[in-house]
Amino acid sequence: MSAQSRRDRVTAASVRARKGAEPLVCLTAYDAPTASLLDPHCDVLLVGDSLGMVVHGLPSTVGVTTEMMILHGQAVMRGARQALVVVDLAFGTYEAGPAQAFETAARVLRETGAGAVKIESGAYAGETVRYLSERGVPVMAHVGLRPQASLVTGGFRAKGRDEAERAAVLEEARAADEAGAFAIVVEGVDARLAEEVTKAVAAPTIGIGASAACDGQILVVPDMLGLFEWTPKFVRRYADLRADIEDAARRYAEDVRARRFPSDAETYRLRRPAGE
Ligand code: KIV
Repeated sequence: MSAQSRRDRVTAASVRARKGAEPLVCLTAYDAPTASLLDPHCDVLLVGDSLGMVVHGLPSTVGVTTEMMILHGQAVMRGARQALVVVDLAFGTYEAGPAQAFETAARVLRETGAGAVKIESGAYAGETVRYLSERGVPVMAHVGLRPQASLVTGGFRAKGRDEAERAAVLEEARAADEAGAFAIVVEGVDARLAEEVTKAVAAPTIGIGASAACDGQILVVPDMLGLFEWTPKFVRRYADLRADIEDAARRYAEDVRARRFPSDAETYRLRRPAGE
């Protein structure tokens, strides 16, 4: 069934069943109106903690809180009807151990109504993924470049540059897979490593900057819409929102300065879509 004609909401189980089949279409989303536009085309909408950087202007994702994730998760759930909505757990709210992770994940699912959570799962996190999955929390893992570890790794550097790093990424992915992750985001690795990971795990892999060797792709939506001057090399821009917004703001300012305001009669007349 095509994404356009789908009715039921995508579930974590149906995402897991897509291993090796039609590629999974995934994007981030942070607000209700954007989510409603992306939803008919996507299998998964991720309320990524990238929102700290691309919405709130933070220097990294380390400053993001559970309250921020819940607020944006609720907004996306209001806009999305059929995609599986996955919410990132914020830095410092799950790494201490399985019990802390369960408490945070349960709160996020309860307060947003989302269908799953994502954690940046280093090799240490297998136990946490199992603990959550066994207790009814579908977990999407995230291996390779892990932005929440940027203070340790020194920034947003691709992973797998030497054999030890390649083995570590494979190990992270295997640990998450064996522990029951329903999907695994693989970020910032080359095509050969992405292929190795994809073959090594039963869960579908979702690449970001990780080639077409994965079972699907995710992009950060403002990047693919061209909102920023700079975007990572692997991102194809499908729109030029930055130029459109700048142009709209310039034309608006010209109108206001020339007093080209709506007339009084038009001011409070509501515009309704044709046919209503
Ligand atoms: O936070 C995020 O947007 C993510 C994607 C980059 C996968 O984790």
